[in-house]
Amino acid sequence: MAEIGQDIAQAKAILSKGGLVGIPTETVYGLAGNALNDRAVTSIFQVKNRPSFDPLIVHVADMNAAASFVQEIPEPAKRLADAFWPGPLTLLLKKKSNISDLVTSGLDTVAVRVPEHALTRQLLTNLNFPLAAPSANPFGYVSPTKAEHVEAQLGSRLEYILDGGACQVGLESTIISFAHDQPKVMRLGGLSVEAIEKVVGPVEIANHSSSKPAAPGMLKSHYAPKKSIVLKSDFDRSSIENINEIGALLYNQYDEYLPKRNQFLLSENSDLNEAAARLFLGLRTLDQHENINTIITDFVPNEGLGRAINDRIKRATAKS
Ligand code: TXA
Ligand code: MG
Repeated sequence: MAEIGQDIAQAKAILSKGGLVGIPTETVYGLAGNALNDRAVTSIFQVKNRPSFDPLIVHVADMNAAASFVQEIPEPAKRLADAFWPGPLTLLLKKKSNISDLVTSGLDTVAVRVPEHALTRQLLTNLNFPLAAPSANPFGYVSPTKAEHVEAQLGSRLEYILDGGACQVGLESTIISFAHDQPKVMRLGGLSVEAIEKVVGPVEIANHSSSKPAAPGMLKSHYAPKKSIVLKSDFDRSSIENINEIGALLYNQYDEYLPKRNQFLLSENSDLNEAAARLFLGLRTLDQHENINTIITDFVPNEGLGRAINDRIKRATAKS
């Protein structure tokens, strides 16, 4: 089992010798290793059981550090970074050769971000290398939003987890590519499209695909709990044998036919930010619920962080 604590010096010592540490960010917990150490990067893929074609995000302390790993930061990308770093924004930019192909899965772009969390920021400013960090979950499963989630799934393969409490945003960062002429959102996430568009004007949003995705996190079936999860609209209630075996993950109102103890509301106050922060916890809680074998769910209003929530719900309910 991993040790859980708040010791930056210990985290630094482990990372400096090529080890891996679970780190808190405002979005989700990351599985971090030295991005400039190929051995550390390779073990990230192994521990997560992640296919090598799915590249990693490089986490840095500030814009200057980011600039040292990319060829250039175009003007609109700079404006976004100024407005939202540290925060749930990842920029896809043309990489410099100091970032290895292992990190980027051979692509000529690298994903960089400055995360917002006091512990992790302190750690990053204490390191003389950036941190490659995917979400700290086994590939394809729900992302962790608490140190205990990391411990439960990857604890046996990690030395240390920095405990930064529950993640405030709860959805992975929004990824926006500046690799081509027009900025393009590659993954909806913890920074809303509306907020981005206020700074750089209208942006294109990539469709996710089920084969050969531009960003593999865009795989259609992803974020899936182990139990069967279906959209309310696709669920045939006449097939229910035992109502205690059905769970529900819903926005602001309980399903009147199901037992309340089997239901998880994202936000009783209809607050999409709260719903985002609770989404993965809800999926995890229902997935671990003893009696439940099927989870029904539904979309939330498609605005602000609701778009990213709906994106995750779409993928969790997609048939692989
Ligand atoms: O909020 C976050 O972004 C969290 C925290 C830990 O920072 N990290 C995270 O990492 O969500 P991960 O590995 O679970 O998702 C990163 C996504 C993947 O879908 C990957 O395919 C995409 O970013 N990505 C990374 N580098 C890329 C690149 N060069 N080109 C296209 N997609 C890239
Ligand atoms: Mg992930």
